[in-house]
Amino acid sequence: MTEETRQKITIPHLYEMREKGEIISWLTCYDFPTAQLMEEAGMEMILVGDSASMVVYGHSSTLPATMDIQIEHTKAVRRGAPTAFLIGDMPFLSYQVSPQEAVYNAGRFMKEAGCDAIKLEGGVRVAETVKAIVNAGIPVIGHIGLTPQSSSMLGGFKVQGKSAESARLMVEDAKALEKAGVLGILLECVPTKVSMHIKKNVSCLVFGIGGGPGCDGQLIIVHDLIGLYQCFTPKFVKKYANIAPILLDAFKTYKQEVRSKAFPAKEHEFTIKAEELKKLEELDK
Ligand code: KIV
Repeated sequence: MTEETRQKITIPHLYEMREKGEIISWLTCYDFPTAQLMEEAGMEMILVGDSASMVVYGHSSTLPATMDIQIEHTKAVRRGAPTAFLIGDMPFLSYQVSPQEAVYNAGRFMKEAGCDAIKLEGGVRVAETVKAIVNAGIPVIGHIGLTPQSSSMLGGFKVQGKSAESARLMVEDAKALEKAGVLGILLECVPTKVSMHIKKNVSCLVFGIGGGPGCDGQLIIVHDLIGLYQCFTPKFVKKYANIAPILLDAFKTYKQEVRSKAFPAKEHEFTIKAEELKKLEELDK
């Protein structure tokens, strides 16, 4: 870890970055050691996404994520990244049933996991819920475009806003979220020109994951960025590393060395003094 500790990233800091024309870096994260590396790299924002359900737990959608699972991952990430702006992701059914339940669940992310904000999916249809959460003093990021929790209704993991009508609805969603008090809006799988159109219509921060350049911040799922999730890689992802073959090689070499008894070697062994060993042998006679 670096010796210098940076100041805690806050909402004013994020808006200042936009003022200065600095693009905000944002990644998902699910565990302590990866969070430590992101903190060291100076990542401004971290989302403990319900994508954990897919990239960590191997489900085919984000729907199985639960509050308890998300909270435990978020706590681990907070321990590793104390100064990043940390966002808890509201899992499916944690905010759709009633605004009261949504406030309670959003509050758990703040109280138990030390989050700075929460994220939830939807626009107009969740505006009342967003208002209730914001009124409880909890910063919210709205997520529109491709919203994985409703991918079944959207016909799969598809680009959104390709027609004028659907893009228009997205603008309405963005405006409703802004009116409800969100600090920012995340656009997923949205044509660049539509993202820019939305950005012109709101004054809150606009983030993109597949939303093109020009957003105030960019988000990628960490397993995609490091080449660890092999089931599917979206078009908008850039792989900055390809660690799957490196891990595979390490696992195979370990297996071979265990089989050939090359591991453990002398340097991996613990010793006991000769007199202690002698005593043991006598005790066991
Ligand atoms: O869960 C998640 O990681 C997300 C991103 C896909 C935006 O919501």
